[in-house]
Amino acid sequence: MATRLRWLGHSALWIESDGKSILIDPFLTGNPAAAASADELTPDAILISHGHDDHLGDTLALARRTKAPIVCNYEIGAWLGSQGIEDVHGCQHGGTARLFDGSVRVKLTLAFHGSTLPDGKGGLAYGGNPCGFLVALADGRTIYDAADTALFGDMSLIGEEGIDLACLPIGDTYTMGPDDALRAVRRLKPKQVLPIHYNTWPPLAQDARAWAARVDAETEARAVVLDPGGWVDV
Ligand code: NI
Ligand code: MN
Repeated sequence: MATRLRWLGHSALWIESDGKSILIDPFLTGNPAAAASADELTPDAILISHGHDDHLGDTLALARRTKAPIVCNYEIGAWLGSQGIEDVHGCQHGGTARLFDGSVRVKLTLAFHGSTLPDGKGGLAYGGNPCGFLVALADGRTIYDAADTALFGDMSLIGEEGIDLACLPIGDTYTMGPDDALRAVRRLKPKQVLPIHYNTWPPLAQDARAWAARVDAETEARAVVLDPGGWVDV
């Protein structure tokens, strides 16, 4: 069965492949760009890149309702455990979680960013190291979600694995901006690239179509620009 991905706005991504659905960074409630509400989604697995609100989002409510397994770093996994969420694959960079009897492999990749969690008292708790995800699907397709990160040279190593679709932040301010994201494309060498983490709020305002034109002109990759809610075939 074909693999396709839906951008739900900001960094929220919905992957459908081989009859399974995977939801990444489900920040929907309070997301001005959200294309779906958490109530209408029933993922088979949830991936959390780091603890910030705009990524953790609706994770607790989704996990409690769907019982979907969660892939995240060890520290976020421990925090989820303290909230009563038990089906957690707590990994660290370089480690792989195997989902759906091993038919899908999710490897945690480097990300240069922060990661804090709500401590339940209005403050912040330690959220471990942030990560991206390399998702190897049952049909052989590979999706890389860089999540929140700066550009880093070891993206070349991630690219060696062969990426069908890379989801890269271009919003600047909290992540790499358009110029560095273009340099990331050169290192990752994906077949397709989708810009994310932009235009959600004024500090993340970017012209994604102008960026996509540069990707198409200056790299081997094909850029796909979606409106929130839009789909791309992988
Ligand atoms: Ni963040
Ligand atoms: Mn973010």
